[in-house]
Amino acid sequence: MRHILVTGGAGFIGSHLTQQLLQAGHRVTVVDNASTGSPRNLADVADHPQLELVVGDAGDPDLIDRLIVGIDHVYHLAAAVGVRTVIHDPLHTVVTNIMPTHAILQAASRENRRGHDVKVYLASTSEVYGKNASHEWGEDDDMVFGPTSRRRWSYGVTKAIDEFLALGYFQQRGLPVVVGRFFNVVGPRQTSAHGMVIPSMVEAALRGGPIVVHGNGQQTRCFLHVADAVAAMLELMDEPTAVGGVFNIGNNQSITIRGLAEMVVDIVNSASTIEMREYVDEFPADFEDVPHRVPRLDRLHRTIKARPRHTLETVIHDVAKALQAESMSGAATKPRQHSRNGAAVPRSAAASLKANSR
Ligand SMILES: NC(=O)c1ccc[n+]([C@@H]2O[C@H](COP(=O)([O-])OP(=O)(O)OC[C@H]3O[C@@H](n4cnc5c(N)ncnc54)[C@H](O)[C@@H]3O)[C@@H](O)[C@H]2O)c1
Repeated sequence: MRHILVTGGAGFIGSHLTQQLLQAGHRVTVVDNASTGSPRNLADVADHPQLELVVGDAGDPDLIDRLIVGIDHVYHLAAAVGVRTVIHDPLHTVVTNIMPTHAILQAASRENRRGHDVKVYLASTSEVYGKNASHEWGEDDDMVFGPTSRRRWSYGVTKAIDEFLALGYFQQRGLPVVVGRFFNVVGPRQTSAHGMVIPSMVEAALRGGPIVVHGNGQQTRCFLHVADAVAAMLELMDEPTAVGGVFNIGNNQSITIRGLAEMVVDIVNSASTIEMREYVDEFPADFEDVPHRVPRLDRLHRTIKARPRHTLETVIHDVAKALQAESMSGAATKPRQHSRNGAAVPRSAAASLKANSR
C-alpha cells in the first residue's frame, strides 16, 4: 500500500484516478482548489477511510511541503484547462500551469534527498505539439507554436515548460518522473463548461438543441475513455523503464468533428440538428485550430501492456448515461466558480465531502 498525492484529484481525470487508487488499497490525499473540478466528483468515495481531501492551491509551496511528507507517488494533474479558460484568462493559465508544477517537483526532490523515495507523474498534453503539420505525432517530434500574441498557444507552451521542469529534475537531481501526454480524454464527469467537445455535444443532444460544429467540421480528433487513460497512467508509474520518459497516451482511431456530431445524434437518438459556425462566433479573430491530432503509440505500447478497451460509442453512451443520471438527481452540470487565487470552494460542494483546509 502506498500513500499517494493527487493534485487536481477532484477534477475529471483526477477523480477517476483517485477512485482506482483507493480500490487498489492505497491511501490517497487529494489537493484541489475546486476551480474547474468539484468535491462532488468524489462523492462515490466521500466516506472512504483512506481518502483525505485538502481544499487548497497546489501552487502554495508551504502547503505542498507539508503534504509531500510520507508520500510515495504524486500524480500532478492540477492545471488550467479548456480552450475557453485559456482564451479568456491567459494570466491564470500561465501561472496555474507552471507554479504548482515547480512547487511539487521541488518538494518531491527535497524529500528524495532526505532519503524518502517519491516518484512524480506529470499530466501533459498533445497541445505541446502545437500545430506540427505531421499526420501523426511521436514523442520526439517538434513543437510548433504560433506567436505569443495568440493566447491559445499559452496552454501548450506552459505544459512544455512543465515537461522541461520535470525532465530537468530527473536529469539534474535524479528525481524519478514520468510524463504522460493525454490526447482528448473523455468520459463521465467531464464538464462542458470549458468548451470540451463531447460533453457539449451530448448535453445539446439530450436537450434536443442544436449541436454546434466550428469551422468546416473536417478537423479530426482521437478520443480515449478516461478508464483507459487511468489504466495507462497506473501501469506507467509501476514500470521502472518508464522513469525519465515522455509518453503519448491516447487512442489512434480518429474521427472528424462533423462525424462525431452525427454519431452523438445517432447514439442519443436525438432530434438535434447540427449547426455549422465560424470560429469567430466564439473565439478571437486570430484563433487557430489544429486540423489533426493523432498520437503515435509505439513507445507507450513497447513500455506497458494496457491498451484502449473502450470504443467511442461506449464513451458517448457513458457520458450520456452520466449526464442523464446527474440531471435526474438535480445536480446538473454548471460552470464552476473560477477562482484566480485558488482558495475558493463552493460551501455546499465542500460540505459534501470531509474536506480539510490544511
Ligand atoms: N481531459 C483531457 O482531454 C486532457 C488532455 C490533455 C491534458 N490533460 C491534463 O490532464 C489534467 C487533468 O485534466 P482534466 O481534464 O481532469 O481537467 P479538470 O479541470 O477536470 O481537472 C483539473 C483539476 O485541477 C484543479 N486545479 C486547478 N488549478 C489548481 C490549483 N492551483 N491547485 C489545486 N487544484 C487545482 C481543478 O479544480 C480541477 O479539479 C490537466 O493537467 C490537463 O492539462 C487533460
